[in-house]
Amino acid sequence: MPILGIESAIYGVDDLELCTRFWTDFGLTLLYSDEAESIFEVASGSRIIVRRRGDPRLPTAYGHQCGVHETIWGVDSQASLDALTADLGRDRPLRLDDDGTVHFAADDGMPLGLRVWSKRPILSQPDPVNAPGCVQRLNLHRKWRRRALPKTINHIVFFVDDYVGALEFFRDRLGFRYVDHSRGAGAFARADGTHEHHSIFFVSTTLPVAPDKPGFMHLAFGLEDIDELMIGVNHMEGCGWRNSGVNSSGGLSRHRISSAIYYYFDNPCGGEAEYHVDTDYLDDNWVPRVWDWKFGSLIWATRTPSFWQGAVEWDMRFDHDGASLEPFRRAPGAARPDPQVMPDRLGDMTDDDEHAI
Ligand SMILES: [Fe+2]
Repeated sequence: MPILGIESAIYGVDDLELCTRFWTDFGLTLLYSDEAESIFEVASGSRIIVRRRGDPRLPTAYGHQCGVHETIWGVDSQASLDALTADLGRDRPLRLDDDGTVHFAADDGMPLGLRVWSKRPILSQPDPVNAPGCVQRLNLHRKWRRRALPKTINHIVFFVDDYVGALEFFRDRLGFRYVDHSRGAGAFARADGTHEHHSIFFVSTTLPVAPDKPGFMHLAFGLEDIDELMIGVNHMEGCGWRNSGVNSSGGLSRHRISSAIYYYFDNPCGGEAEYHVDTDYLDDNWVPRVWDWKFGSLIWATRTPSFWQGAVEWDMRFDHDGASLEPFRRAPGAARPDPQVMPDRLGDMTDDDEHAI
């Protein structure tokens, strides 16, 4: 019953015109715009739908926060959609749209949808990389571009009260795969019909950098290579968009978990938008791992986050059965732990460290 990835992310916003300009500058293709909404797409056919808050078509946002109000996951066939909804319908209300989209809520209330999706195949051709003694580009310069054009939506991230329970819902009811565990910080999961390292990341609201309730954090878009990413960054900065608030997040950086190079922008739609390149691609041969969050966070960063200054112990082991998750299960509404007693110096995390997790 493959879920192919995010078919649509539906935002509720206060300033539709400003948000429309943001996504246009970011490189998305505008399909439609009127007084009530703007609809964009990327090359894979994934869409960003931006509506004014209060629009009756919007569900209540997860945790009543700004940002993505509903995530619509694309399914490969009507038979798969029927199988998923037959199971979900056993213990929760479903709402069926005229276009066949099924809406429901996860166990923790996260608004979700499922829709049959003809995901477009992507053709990328990143330039070969030269190194001393390894010449893969002889008498051939690199590709030149004017703009970054996002190809895919790679993942979405939410702050959640119980990242173990959230992961289990997506794993057991939607077929997602458990991928990696950043100990005490959150868990990564991959939709079964796609290969990017993760399709969703559940971040713990116990972290000092988290809001005091669940909510949307960011959405990541796949680009071809670091040149396209930096051309996009330069263009966005020229348009006045910044990654300069509390979530500066290391500037241009490479995660150790997922291996991806990334750069964030503060998004007037809520949360942040991420340019994302050279992530790991996985299939079902992957063995999940559990990481110390500091070690898993970064290989390098151009603006070194505070937690990463000084020695970081190398700490990763395989976690094929997910046993590492159990101690981090959390009851809904449980009191936030005292940062002074959180393990692995998680309590030391500052706002600047947020996205490095
Ligand atoms: Fe991300």
